Amino acid sequence: MLRISGLSAGYHGGTVLHDLDLDVPEGSVHAVVGHNGAGKTTLVHTVAGLLRPATGTVEVAGRDVTGRPAHRIARAGVGLVPQGRRVFARLTVAEHIRLAHRPPRAAGGGRPWTPQRVLDLLPRLGERSTHRGTDLSGGEQQMLALARALLGSPRVLLLDEPTEGLAPVLVGQILDLVGTLAGEGLAVLLVSPSPASAAQCADTVTVLTSGRVTARLDGPAVRKDPAELYEAMALTAH
Ligand SMILES: Nc1ncnc2c1ncn2[C@@H]1O[C@H](COP(=O)(O)OP(=O)(O)OP(=O)(O)O)[C@@H](O)[C@H]1O
Ligand SMILES: [Mg+2]
Repeated sequence: MLRISGLSAGYHGGTVLHDLDLDVPEGSVHAVVGHNGAGKTTLVHTVAGLLRPATGTVEVAGRDVTGRPAHRIARAGVGLVPQGRRVFARLTVAEHIRLAHRPPRAAGGGRPWTPQRVLDLLPRLGERSTHRGTDLSGGEQQMLALARALLGSPRVLLLDEPTEGLAPVLVGQILDLVGTLAGEGLAVLLVSPSPASAAQCADTVTVLTSGRVTARLDGPAVRKDPAELYEAMALTAH
């Protein structure tokens, strides 16, 4: 569903991502783990069209979207949950949901996401519908950021550190949700500095070190024995 080939990208002529290949099939979770500054957000922003790649291609559902503007890539079926959630401080939950809802695209995708379907998945947002962004807890803000992305009925979901700063019980809830969404057919690219949370729900785990892929491991094998993933991460510690 998402296919990234030979991708290089950076800022002001400097290269951050080097020749990256990565696939996320429909109905699966691909986790990319890497330390701070490894290039995780750069990767997510390049896929989402917020940054133009220097080389390489990005395909969504077989369509080449390389270098397209962000709104076109969103329309091609890519939803972004940005690092730090970026909810609007002064808008209520209900207003966020109303603004984010997009009529479903004609072609492809599964069952479209309506406000009701999002509230069924994330009932806490229904309970908080009149609260403003600043009045929400970190976990609630993360759920709202997720709701906003889902309301575009994406086929590919990009999650940039969705568990950052959350209490362990919420981390578990968010990762369970990620698994549920993949189970419904979404292709999920999850980036995180935490090998533990990546391993919890991923089908494939890629280790990113200074913008390069330095290990690629099978999710179920990592769940059985995480030693190899921890070793790959420790080897890249700085
Ligand atoms: N807007 C920018 N302009 C110039 N350099 C940038 C910009 N954003 C990121 N960088 C640099 O690119 C590199 C990768 O940053 P990136 O934000 O992709 O890392 P990350 O893996 O997401 O880190 P974190 O875990 O802290 O979120 C870093 O060296 C960073 O300083
Ligand atoms: Mg980042």
